[in-house]
Amino acid sequence: MTSSRALRSVTSRSVACCFAVIFGLLRTADPRAAAPTVQFRPPQRDYILACGGCHGLNGISNAALVPSLKGLVGYYLYLPEGRAYLPRLPNVAFSTLNDEQLAAVLNYMVFDIGAGSAPAGARAYGSAEVGRWRKQPLTEVTLSEYRRRLVETLINEYHAPAALRGYIATTAQ
Ligand code: HEC
Repeated sequence: MTSSRALRSVTSRSVACCFAVIFGLLRTADPRAAAPTVQFRPPQRDYILACGGCHGLNGISNAALVPSLKGLVGYYLYLPEGRAYLPRLPNVAFSTLNDEQLAAVLNYMVFDIGAGSAPAGARAYGSAEVGRWRKQPLTEVTLSEYRRRLVETLINEYHAPAALRGYIATTAQ
């Protein structure tokens, strides 16, 4: 009697123990349980997915192939044609993001990635404005001359660094 009760309690204890071990193993086997969770705000997430592959997660790219954005891209907002240039770029205009999401990505790009380069008090892009400009995309033919004129004006008259030339300097020849 006593010994069978003792046996039962030993058995149930080892079953419980066994479950705890298996459960523990399953938990540690699940990579999601151990991986730290990184939270991105939607515009940063959209930038990473739609733009970061070419322009770099932080806006630093191989500038000979794709223009670097970090600390530079805000200069375009000094000129009305520069402000229009960003939503008219083919990779921006034809993005699958809707106008609102795209405006948020452009604002993240200009004010976070391009921090320090936009003029003081520059207005954020609105979705209606982005919606209008993306319907007039620049083409491969019009883009390089449009960009060259913008960049030279920004360097000569708005103190933009010569680094803004980077991409065109290597592609213009
Ligand atoms: C497939 C690669 C690729 C993707 C994706 C891409 N871009 Fe670009 N981007 C380029 C290239 C190449 C240029 C140079 C101009 C051109 O050929 O379109 C450029 C030019 C730019 C410029 C102009 C910078 C300057 O100094 O002239 C900006 C701003 C820009 N892209 C923003 C974006 C944003 C925002 C997205 C995402 C919505 C994006 N790009 C997605 C390749 C890409």
